[in-house]
Amino acid sequence: MSDNQEASDAEDTTPSESATLPLRPHSDRPTCNKTGVCSRSYFVVVMVFFHVYIINVIALLFYVHYNSGQEDTNQGRDAPSSNQQQPESPRPPSKPEFLRVSSLTRIEGIRVGHVQKVSLMQNKVHEMRTLSMKPLLFEIPGFLSDDECRVVMQLAQLKGLMESQLMVQEGQEELAKELNLSPDEIFNLLDINQDGQLQLHEILTHSRVRDGIWLTPENLREIYTGLKADKDGDGLLSLEEFRLLSNDAFQRFLLQRGVKKSQLVRNSRHTWLYQGKGAHQVLQDIKTKVTRLTRLPPSLVDLSEPLQVVRYEQGGHYHAHHDSGPVYPETACTHTRLAANTSTPFETSCRYITVLFYLNSVEGGGETAFPVADNRTYDEVSLIQNDVDLLDTRRNCDKSNLRVKPSKGTAVFWYNYLSDGKGWVGEQDEYALHGGCMVTQGTKWVANKWINIDPDYQRQARYQQLVSQQPEDDDDEDLTLNQDTQSSDIHQDL
Ligand code: OGA
Ligand code: CA
Ligand code: CA
Ligand code: FE2
Repeated sequence: MSDNQEASDAEDTTPSESATLPLRPHSDRPTCNKTGVCSRSYFVVVMVFFHVYIINVIALLFYVHYNSGQEDTNQGRDAPSSNQQQPESPRPPSKPEFLRVSSLTRIEGIRVGHVQKVSLMQNKVHEMRTLSMKPLLFEIPGFLSDDECRVVMQLAQLKGLMESQLMVQEGQEELAKELNLSPDEIFNLLDINQDGQLQLHEILTHSRVRDGIWLTPENLREIYTGLKADKDGDGLLSLEEFRLLSNDAFQRFLLQRGVKKSQLVRNSRHTWLYQGKGAHQVLQDIKTKVTRLTRLPPSLVDLSEPLQVVRYEQGGHYHAHHDSGPVYPETACTHTRLAANTSTPFETSCRYITVLFYLNSVEGGGETAFPVADNRTYDEVSLIQNDVDLLDTRRNCDKSNLRVKPSKGTAVFWYNYLSDGKGWVGEQDEYALHGGCMVTQGTKWVANKWINIDPDYQRQARYQQLVSQQPEDDDDEDLTLNQDTQSSDIHQDL
């Protein structure tokens, strides 16, 4: 506000005040009734109420602050078996070496663009920027030094990289035969929206999951023509049209015509590098930095998958996918299968966090795309609409909500699961959908560090007890890990 404005405001008040004056009795001070609204005691009472009110508001703000978003620091987590809130008690001095995990840290994103400083190593501070809130996604430039990037690529080459996806998986027919499904039953399974017709996207999704072959709507139309499948030419398969096709007609057609690598879900080569004791110092240092970055217990990082190093040639890609599976009661995690009570029919990788490192700067393309990051809603069906398939990273990366350009040494990391609100892993975060865009120029090197945590707390606890060979605690079921004997060298061969 300028001085002039202030002056004119001050002037404005004078006439109105003077306008009220005639209403007052003509005396030096307005006379007040001792029990009236301008008595001293009335003033004192009002002021007391006012202060109590302010103190209450401040206390409420403190309460809210210390009860939200702090589950990572010191809040006791009630194990799923007990409904009582366990008060946080100091650890028994007899077990100082035990690391007891009762709650997982979840770093706060605050808002997109928010930058926070992180200390990952001595004498260096990194900046971590929030890229999206859904999924909770961060970027840390300079996470790896140029030398570290070089060593990781060289070690991977020394070990040898293998095709990330083999051409066509056999054995699917046997599964169908074993289940003895009729064409009508298969039709029903595929007809997601149950409208009695198979739309293009219903077949496309199925083919990707089943054979790892990435059909485009054009490919499918070509197959329809080749097999004379769509008799009435409406682009849909009715039950009658479907019945006329043999069980493996699509597969046989594709095999005859040949499948190119560019038609697979994933077109890259990769290898795994172990990071436990005895591994190259650079690999161990990366693990330490990841532990500091994620603020998770070292035991959880130690027991996670090895580092995956991936190389994409020019033309390479990885269509949009989830690194981790959804949480169903009948699904077990691959990493804790040792601790599963029964053999479960479905197994999925439970990767709570993905840390993705760019080991080189790519000349053209190769961005990591997050098609639905920070979308207002998530709608699986609208991801594949007739001719625009948002999951297709060869064609539609430009339509993704967010793309991260590979830059040597930068790390990005995100949570594949939401929180359960009690400090443990909750539902899968559907917004964590992502893929590697096609490399248009040069090659692209990345590495993935996945941190495996079972959404089933008890199963994770049993697993950690098993691998650390600790006798189970009688009093509670907290995760208990002896840091001396924790098996940093026990890994699953994946
Ligand atoms: C992956 C992956 C993305 C990329 O390897 O799982 O999603 O940009 N990679 O390479
Ligand atoms: Ca349908
Ligand atoms: Ca038809
Ligand atoms: Fe991925």
